[in-house]
Amino acid sequence: MHLTKEEERIYKGEEGWAREKAMEILVAIGDINNASKLIPIKSAHISGASYKTIGDAFEFINSLAGTTVKVKSTLNPTGMDRENWNAMDVSETFVTKQNDVINAYKKLGVSVECTCVPYLIGNTPTCGEHIAWAESSAVLYANSVLGARTNMEGAPSALAAALIGKTPLYGLHRTENREPEMLVCVNRTLADADYSALGFLIGDLVGNKIPVIELPPASFPSTDELKHLSAAIGATGSVGMYHIKGITPEADAIGSPAEKTEIEKADLKKFYTDTEKVDVIAIGCPHCSASELQQIYRLLKAESKGRKVRNDFFVFTARAIKERMHGVVRKIEDFGVKVICDTCFVVSPAFESYKCVITNSGKMLRYVPLLCGGADVRLCRTEECVRLAF
Ligand code: F3S
Repeated sequence: MHLTKEEERIYKGEEGWAREKAMEILVAIGDINNASKLIPIKSAHISGASYKTIGDAFEFINSLAGTTVKVKSTLNPTGMDRENWNAMDVSETFVTKQNDVINAYKKLGVSVECTCVPYLIGNTPTCGEHIAWAESSAVLYANSVLGARTNMEGAPSALAAALIGKTPLYGLHRTENREPEMLVCVNRTLADADYSALGFLIGDLVGNKIPVIELPPASFPSTDELKHLSAAIGATGSVGMYHIKGITPEADAIGSPAEKTEIEKADLKKFYTDTEKVDVIAIGCPHCSASELQQIYRLLKAESKGRKVRNDFFVFTARAIKERMHGVVRKIEDFGVKVICDTCFVVSPAFESYKCVITNSGKMLRYVPLLCGGADVRLCRTEECVRLAF
């Protein structure tokens, strides 16, 4: 990979050890992927924030102290609500370690928003902009819905890109690699959690091939539905983007792939199975948007008939969204629902004692059995999630 004189200097350690290490990571990735050069990025989004998932590997982040990120950089959810951790089932040792992780990122100049929806709180790339993001749900949303350009970064490569302000030019940064390789035809109108089920199926089907999805005529998925579709594809597949004909920004400029598959009503229906043993409801994977909070409130109001929720019910969102929507959040909490920030059901250790989780999220459908004490998980439409809470 070609390096400019300035990049060579950094590579040789003339701008300090931390930038040298960051440049080494970028050069190694660039060389493996036959990148021709580094390109500037507008932002980074960094995963590896929960002490539950990274453990003491965060000491490496501490060792980078003394340098700061070169571009706007946001952080994924951690393992606890930073303000209300004492209301969560997390140990004091965990809280101390988690705060150490957050402070390590803070010292590097990373904005510790601790959310997987940076695009809803101001780290919102525009079409064609090059970025370096980790967190599969956000990568798929940024590439597919916003038309930004990022590879599926891991925690080290996103952090390295943030410290240098550049990323190697390969993969989804190049127009020719954003062409679809498989046509997925959907023959029924979808709503709400159907997009989670669809994403789960598509991720499984396509693996690392970029799909172009053809929805039935007059289908206009909302940004929330696209958020769930992105998260579910990222949970079961390894592909970093998708197109939807007539909807996503690059879909009109692409060719039509020869390989084709169809998704039938029955394929989606099998996701909605029995929900009798529910002991907890969790919504907000990815973190809830303002409109989802409003929807949850409307549904609670319609269903409650003066009652509070009978099952544990958690809603996860970004702190900035919770603060902006504080009036609605207070009303949601009045029903006995807990609205939690900075973390989520999957990356916090606080939710591992539940046996059966109800959610509208396809990503939780994949990760709860793997990362949350082996709990069962069922997919339901948001309305059904709320109904089951009473
Ligand atoms: Fe976000 Fe946690 Fe889901 S990080 S995408 S809410 S697993």
